[in-house]
Amino acid sequence: MDSYKLLITGGIPLMGETYVSGGKNTSVAVIPAALLSDEECVIENLPDIEDVRVLARILRGLGAQAEYDPQARRMRVDPRTVKSCKVPYAQTQQMRASYYLLGVLLGRFGQAEVGYPGGCSIGARPFEQHLKAFRAMGAEVKERGATISAKGKMTGAHVYFDRITVGGTINAMLAAVKAEGNTILYNAAKEPHVVDLANFLNSMGGKVKGAGTDTVRITGVPHLHGSVYSVIPDQIETGTLMIAAAATRGDVTIRGCIPTHMEALTAKLLEMGVAVTDSDDAIRVRTVRGHRAVNIKTQEYPGFPTDLQQPMSALLTRASGDSVVIETIFESRFKHLVEMQRMGARVRILDQTAIIEGVEELYGSPVTATDLRAGAALVIAGLMANGTTEIYEPGFIERGYEHIEEKLRSLGADIRREQI
Ligand code: EPU
Repeated sequence: MDSYKLLITGGIPLMGETYVSGGKNTSVAVIPAALLSDEECVIENLPDIEDVRVLARILRGLGAQAEYDPQARRMRVDPRTVKSCKVPYAQTQQMRASYYLLGVLLGRFGQAEVGYPGGCSIGARPFEQHLKAFRAMGAEVKERGATISAKGKMTGAHVYFDRITVGGTINAMLAAVKAEGNTILYNAAKEPHVVDLANFLNSMGGKVKGAGTDTVRITGVPHLHGSVYSVIPDQIETGTLMIAAAATRGDVTIRGCIPTHMEALTAKLLEMGVAVTDSDDAIRVRTVRGHRAVNIKTQEYPGFPTDLQQPMSALLTRASGDSVVIETIFESRFKHLVEMQRMGARVRILDQTAIIEGVEELYGSPVTATDLRAGAALVIAGLMANGTTEIYEPGFIERGYEHIEEKLRSLGADIRREQI
């Protein structure tokens, strides 16, 4: 339970320039991957968020040196002192990506004992595809209580994923990079952070090819050396800021992003009538006229990302006309819309489809964040609403957005904390 709430007084167009932090979902893969090295690694451009701090504690719990400097956004990881292959549930349940320790420890030591992962409550989140990949590479995997144990020397294998999974693709790459022989991952995820992890592994001397396509080929190597690596900017933070700019009918330039990662969102914003222009590493979002309703269907990259569905559907509550939003990736990702009904949003939810009837006005109300992106969506809602919105459980937002309040304030938003 957070001991504060966020207060947002809406109706102010966001104006000016801001920047994007390093990617959350890439950092949570790259940090544990440093344990695969035989030397020290330095990881740069990390976002200053809770998941990064949790991972530093997990790595230290295993015996590694993991010095995190939040000011410099940098972590030094020296894995030479690792002496344990066990990560307790008390630590793993604090975040989803803790299951990458399974792939890493198996890849490095041929054994792992890792507690069940936590993460946002957005529906069932099975990970049998990860375990299938480990088994294909020679691991014996057991699930008992809240612990997954895996043991076996990793040997190259062909793995066909029954469905596209970001986490499964990343975990299999981690287990395979030092395996004996060749691994081929078919029907792999193509997200930018899959590519970023491959680039990090290759910077340590790994041989990973094809990341970013649906077939990833990995030639196992016996050793990985140290590396200094800077993670890519956060695709979802970029998108959330773009949506916030559009939602407030503002004019915002977002620097330090990768515009090509944003094409699905940019296309939808253009369809709504928002002006979006980009250069090498910046995107400018302006609203010159009103917003037209659009339909959204979430898909794996390069389709419309599920992580932006929540902020985007918040924006659509005030577009003119009806929008249909189909969530195909997770079962339960409309909780923010249920909260927003209290703010005047008109929404009907039928299983994984939301039909949004745009309204002229939203009004401030107390609402509760139920997960990270739902929290971001409620921030967007608060920025659009007349009056003051109170967001309870804002700690979810901090898990994935670095200094979001400061960034929005610097663009003119009226957003503040109040103790409860
Ligand atoms: N799935 C299975 N079996 C598996 C693995 C996945 O059925 O073995 C299903 C999932 O239940 C889901 C779908 O496949 O329905 C896609 O899951 P995926 O494995 O791709 O997701 P993830 O790895 O658990 C990552 C991000 C999520 C993001 C999704 C989709 C991290 C730490 N998490 O999750 O990020 O929504 O990919 O892009 O990288 C967030 O940042 O808010 C967030 C939830």
